[in-house]
Amino acid sequence: MSEVVSYEVRGSIGLIQIKNPPVNALSVNKGVLQGLLDAIKSGDHDPQVNAFLLIGGGKNFSGGADISEFGKPKVPGMATLADLLAYMDTVTKPIVAALSGPTMGGGFELSLTCHYRLASQETIVALPEVKLGILPGAGGTQRLPRIIGAEKALELITSGAFIPAQDAKSLGIVDEVIDGNLLEDSIKWIKRALRCGLPVARVSERSVKTAIDAKDFITKATGVAEKKWRGYPAPLRIVECIDAAINKSFKEGIQIERKNIEELILTDESRSLRHLFFAERQANKVVGISKETPIAKIQTVSVIGAGTMGTGIAMNFLNVGIPVTIVDTNDEILQKGIDTINKNYLSTVAKGRLSAEDHDRRVGLLTGSTQLSAVSQSDLVVEAVFEEMAVKKMIFRELDSVAKPSAILATNTSTLDVNEIASVTRRPEQIIGLHFFSPANVMRLLEVVRAEKTSPEVVATSMSLAKKIKKIPVCVGVCDGFVGNRMIHTYLREAEYLIEEGALPEQVDHAIESFGFAMGPFRMCDLAGLDIGWAIRKRKKSEGLVIKRYVSIPDHLCERGWFGQKTGGGYYTYESGSRAPIVNPEVNAIVEAASEEKGITRRSIEAHEIVDRLMFALINEGANIIAEGVAQRASDIDVIYAAGYGFPRYRGGPMFYAQTVGLLHVVEGIERYSKQAYGDHWQVSPFLAQLVQKNQTFG
Ligand SMILES: NC(=O)c1ccc[n+]([C@@H]2O[C@H](COP(=O)([O-])OP(=O)(O)OC[C@H]3O[C@@H](n4cnc5c(N)ncnc54)[C@H](O)[C@@H]3O)[C@@H](O)[C@H]2O)c1
Repeated sequence: MSEVVSYEVRGSIGLIQIKNPPVNALSVNKGVLQGLLDAIKSGDHDPQVNAFLLIGGGKNFSGGADISEFGKPKVPGMATLADLLAYMDTVTKPIVAALSGPTMGGGFELSLTCHYRLASQETIVALPEVKLGILPGAGGTQRLPRIIGAEKALELITSGAFIPAQDAKSLGIVDEVIDGNLLEDSIKWIKRALRCGLPVARVSERSVKTAIDAKDFITKATGVAEKKWRGYPAPLRIVECIDAAINKSFKEGIQIERKNIEELILTDESRSLRHLFFAERQANKVVGISKETPIAKIQTVSVIGAGTMGTGIAMNFLNVGIPVTIVDTNDEILQKGIDTINKNYLSTVAKGRLSAEDHDRRVGLLTGSTQLSAVSQSDLVVEAVFEEMAVKKMIFRELDSVAKPSAILATNTSTLDVNEIASVTRRPEQIIGLHFFSPANVMRLLEVVRAEKTSPEVVATSMSLAKKIKKIPVCVGVCDGFVGNRMIHTYLREAEYLIEEGALPEQVDHAIESFGFAMGPFRMCDLAGLDIGWAIRKRKKSEGLVIKRYVSIPDHLCERGWFGQKTGGGYYTYESGSRAPIVNPEVNAIVEAASEEKGITRRSIEAHEIVDRLMFALINEGANIIAEGVAQRASDIDVIYAAGYGFPRYRGGPMFYAQTVGLLHVVEGIERYSKQAYGDHWQVSPFLAQLVQKNQTFG
């Protein structure tokens, strides 16, 4: 038998074990599938064998397809998953799968082709293909509805949800959850079952049940897929496959599934989603960091500042059992911060997503102090005080003297120079930026800002800790706004130019939301608050900074006390307790007056120009950022934008999108817009121009 699959006959049971660590991926080229096929064929012809047990060696049954084989040629003569499953459907002896660990995609589909499924307590099953813009392509859309009914199958396949063993049992996916030794207890289960007569229960021979009339169900499901998954083509195709499972033969259903996956795989949406999947993995690779780079243990954390960010940051650590000391200037502010954390957890308890015990455990790990010296035993200190260099420097000087020598000192600054902050300490190699996004307990993006002297150990520890607290970390360099905010600045500036030239805020937002963003730029400004930007502009003005084309519209809003959602109005008005924007004619009048004041003749601006200009602004600045080495690679920028800025995942992030439409198209667009009246701020990024000249891409 092959090295990656073992086969032996134990009594009357053909025992097949997948042995392809670490996750028992169903590799074609390594011969896993061929090995399985050979084993089953051998047992099928062996009169001593009455049933099969298919189990994973190690912790997993199978994590699914081998992603390293994606897009690579297949070794000729090796069986594919389709070959294996087609044969399994003809076998005349019962096949029992014993599941363990994450059993995903093709691994799960393999088990669905077995006649019975047992599972260890730790098993999780899922068909997550939809997250890559495709659908389960090995019969999953045909077999799962035959096992659990059309409604549940549709829900699981369109969401890609992870189902723990007990839930899988309740749904009827799993016949029994095994507590003890999976291998031995599964053999006992089969022996017992054989004594009672264990029929060959082919899933493909069953029919699909629907709770409501099948036709109504499909109509409803189509409507939901169109509305809920706007922009994503896979869910609609999944509905089509489930329709086939209900109304056509198994064989026809498999053909329809195949046709749909082959078409989906070629779509820009699937390409984009697959790009992001690999980009997130790539982002973990940081120049100068290897597997050998030591990682420090972070067992206790302090957070300085119990405001908006500090409280959210603290929750990340409490959530994973790391004790946190939170520090603020006085008892009242401190208590308010602690109350905020408590309230946040209580609301999760009320929603049924957190148990009362977990609430108590998490809150029990939190202590507060008004003394900076309270951080003395912490392995990591995260500073989240006011965004003022003088305050940050004062804090870091003091932290340097009170924190233990091995402690990592991190700042959550969004704009300030981390090198300058590090320079006031005697341990610049221990200083790093950990740029969380608001709300910090919810947003998954974390920019890990590597300063000039930050040591590789501190970077590696931060990246590893970020994953522990379930963030998506991207390592970036120091510059004003780092990657995400520096780019968003050019995007917002372009949005302001657009309203000055003739668009209205709601038109800009509508165009960008139709493109797929979760929120247009002006709704985003209202959510973030307009007052911070106003204060920065006033400070810069007082420092004598002259901006060539200054848009005064947000200043006019702030002068009226309209700071956004928190004051009930900004670019839009908001009814108390609602986040739904209401167009305010007074704002539109302010916008129109601002154009008039500058002598700009307002013109009608089409949606495609709005989208082009905002996307090109992002792409152009992104190219500058790559050229400067602030981002390691274009795909890191895509991860940042998809995880932190609501960029539509099905467009793959701004840099991938640029390649979808063509870099030449972007450069020509920027040149065209720069020739328009008031368009003279555009300058093509030299790096972008160079790529176009050499007919290259971001890679
Ligand atoms: N709010 C955001 O969306 C956001 C996002 C990313 C990063 N940031 C950054 O996070 C930091 C904090 O922002 P925020 O929005 O939480 O501000 P905030 O005003 O809500 O909170 C700041 C807290 O720091 C406390 N503080 C001030 N001086 C202190 C000192 N000497 N010692 C201890 N505590 C002190 C204040 O009392 C206050 O509670 C800033 O650097 C900001 O740029 C903010």
